[in-house]
Amino acid sequence: MRIRILSLLPQAFDSFLSYPVIRHAVDKGLVEIEVIDIRDYADGCWRAIDDSPYGGGAGLLLRVDVVKKALDGAAGDKGRRILLGPKGRLFDQKLAHALSHEKELVLIAGHYEGVDERVRSYIDDEVSIGDYILTGGESAAIVLAEAVIRLLDGAIKEASSASESFEDGILEEPQYTHPALFDGKRVPDVLMSGNKAAITHFNELEAIKDTTALRPDLIPSDRSFRFHTVHRDYGNEKDIITWIGDRLPCPRIVWHTEDHLVLEKRNARPLSSAGQKTILSTVSSILKALWSFDTTGCPADMRLAYRLSRLSLPWARWQALRPLMDDVHGDDLVLSHGRLTLEHILVNGNGLVAITDWQDAGLAERERDVANILDQLEEVGISKDELFSRLGRDFDPRRLSLMRLVP
Ligand code: ADE
Repeated sequence: MRIRILSLLPQAFDSFLSYPVIRHAVDKGLVEIEVIDIRDYADGCWRAIDDSPYGGGAGLLLRVDVVKKALDGAAGDKGRRILLGPKGRLFDQKLAHALSHEKELVLIAGHYEGVDERVRSYIDDEVSIGDYILTGGESAAIVLAEAVIRLLDGAIKEASSASESFEDGILEEPQYTHPALFDGKRVPDVLMSGNKAAITHFNELEAIKDTTALRPDLIPSDRSFRFHTVHRDYGNEKDIITWIGDRLPCPRIVWHTEDHLVLEKRNARPLSSAGQKTILSTVSSILKALWSFDTTGCPADMRLAYRLSRLSLPWARWQALRPLMDDVHGDDLVLSHGRLTLEHILVNGNGLVAITDWQDAGLAERERDVANILDQLEEVGISKDELFSRLGRDFDPRRLSLMRLVP
């Protein structure tokens, strides 16, 4: 890789170029770094590189003619041209990875007061290292270049980069070194047990705990890791799973906060990957198990009236639903999963392993889960008559369509 840095303060890069990791990468021939003084491309006896804004305003702007000349003179048409400035897209590890695959990068360290708007027509990208203002783009260029260079093959030891923060989208787990006991604080026993699998399992959960506490924004609503799944804003899921206990195969709760629920991930595949016969028998036995479940003390009421109230429907939709609702008298209530799909049913060679995603579960009309899964069954070639005959009962199509509208 070749990195050219265009700057008004070339001396700002002296100590960067002597960082051990950077020097090592340069010495090994992984990267060539050239720092170019933009001022060398300024014309006239004053060599003006900046000027005051048209229309007034504070400070001086970097001139477009000087930048264009510096870009053409230093890099020609080679390389991805990146302006460092606070208006750019935020730099992150994903972007560092993407840039580490480029052959040539041209970094333009912007002027502290800004650049002439027309500079933007000569660049490929604008990148900011954070929502704050620096006096110039030099330190931003250093941050970007260092993050990119250490990702080049051979720049640092493979193992140390693979487990770092952000590499799998979350923060790295907490780490410890000698002494094992200091000031009453002990290193967790499992880390000294020598049991590799237990350590990996432990570290993953600790990394998830740190991320939910420190950077919850890194965890989208549902995330699956090697041993755990994390659910954000998990609705009724914790209360329902706790209440069900081992009466149905639910995932085990490993840890939770108010906003995040961490469940044990089971080694299994979704029912959608099974054959028609297995799908039909598994779905019908799950539905029967839900219907015969003792609902005493059920912690969530998910009846139609509640589901409608959280929809905030426009008036016209309410009017359209009214005639259908008159048919639903809420007296046939069962434990309903609420999101019953083939992906939320996990199986292995021995049969059912777990039913996942209980966020919307609770006491509700018997047709709710049937309506949820019918379309998917039809997609895999199982008709509703086949399902109904397995279940030993029929369903009113009007009630089913209402459940489809208000899942
Ligand atoms: N120049 C000034 N502020 C900056 C920032 N936040 N990121 C990149 N370049 C900058």
